[in-house]
Amino acid sequence: MMTNFFQERNGTLYAEEVALPDIAERFGTPCYVYSRAALTAAAHEFHTALDGTVDLVCYAVKANGNLAILNLLARLGCGFDIVSGGELARVLAAGGDPAKTVFSGVGKTVAEMEAALHAGILCFNVESAAELSALAATAARLGKVAPVSFRVNPDVDAKTHPYISTGLKENKFGVSFDEAQMLYRQAAALSSLRVTGVDMHIGSQITELAPYREAAEKLLQLVKALEADGIVLEHIDIGGGLGVRYRDEQPIPLTVFAQMLRDVFAGRSERLFMEPGRRLVADAGVLLTRILYLKPGASKNFAVVDAAMTDLIRPVLYEAWHPVWAVTKNAAGNEKIWDIVGPVCESSDFLAQARPLALREGDLLAVGVAGAYAMVMGSNYNARPRACEVMVDGDEITMIRAREKIEKLWESEQILQK
Ligand code: LLP
Repeated sequence: MMTNFFQERNGTLYAEEVALPDIAERFGTPCYVYSRAALTAAAHEFHTALDGTVDLVCYAVKANGNLAILNLLARLGCGFDIVSGGELARVLAAGGDPAKTVFSGVGKTVAEMEAALHAGILCFNVESAAELSALAATAARLGKVAPVSFRVNPDVDAKTHPYISTGLKENKFGVSFDEAQMLYRQAAALSSLRVTGVDMHIGSQITELAPYREAAEKLLQLVKALEADGIVLEHIDIGGGLGVRYRDEQPIPLTVFAQMLRDVFAGRSERLFMEPGRRLVADAGVLLTRILYLKPGASKNFAVVDAAMTDLIRPVLYEAWHPVWAVTKNAAGNEKIWDIVGPVCESSDFLAQARPLALREGDLLAVGVAGAYAMVMGSNYNARPRACEVMVDGDEITMIRAREKIEKLWESEQILQK
């Protein structure tokens, strides 16, 4: 299934008004291609469906941190969810608003806390008692007051892949409900901290509403218990995790999600925040790659392409299924069942397995739904430079990240002098 922004016309795949072979010609492959219209539509959908319900959509930078994408989303009204000093620096470099930025993550360093306090972020999503002490001490030393929210772990099963499930008590994330109340009391008593909210994040690629509802209801109970204790919160952040369709999943409609929030939080005055990553960017990108060699065999047919697990690791890491489309229809060719593999020296280097496609050497393929957790998880294994990224806007193409230069790979390395 293609999307509105990546469509076939006369046998060729287009990104908006641009034919993908033109991009391959001009920028080479492998190359990530994004659609500005798709990003804009996704942000609009969030803002429209959640209007009057969710006050701030904090885009999870980890899903795709390219400055052009961050800048676009900032201009479309998004705040940001960051998990490192590096992501904070990216948000600032892209013109994002620190006052709309929340800082999540289990392992914030003191240097990262300092940078975030200097930038004036909206709040720290604190994940442990130890982190709370470090934050309190850091803020006190700088003469600042740190806005604090606790990430609580609601212990619900988000029914997603175990590697991307985060809301069970055996996961490393958040503090337990029992612990939370005591931590809130501690935080409220410290002058270098200001308790502002509560947050959760139960997992990623979630397609069922029930775990969200269960977690949100638990969160509300905690908010009420805190209120009874004299601790009044300003915001409730329900995290990210909304799934998309890679193959045949049925994503939760945002309007349905909004209704659930209105039901659960009816009559409450706290501001609601969200931290979506994937749902904002996944559909907006494809990975364009060229077939180097075809290796038909007795037990399997391999199409060796110039993109690899270093460009897209999701298939091997999470057993993720991404659609693969032939960019130009091969009318003459016979369909065969192909594994689409990269040049990396690992059997785990595959982008897709057992796909019925009519292929020729030199053909282009597009790996779909590759706007989220794709380029950002790239690596330089096998001394492979990272792919370039381009943004299409109607019939315009802008290179938003140049292909990495080989020399860059060892730029900070040093040969021994003796
Ligand atoms: N907030 C927090 C605290 C998170 O840890 C995450 C994602 C998000 C928000 C955004 O979640 P999303 O809306 O994108 O589901 N690399 C994996 C996904 C890891 C997600 C980690 N946390 C993948 O490729 O599927």
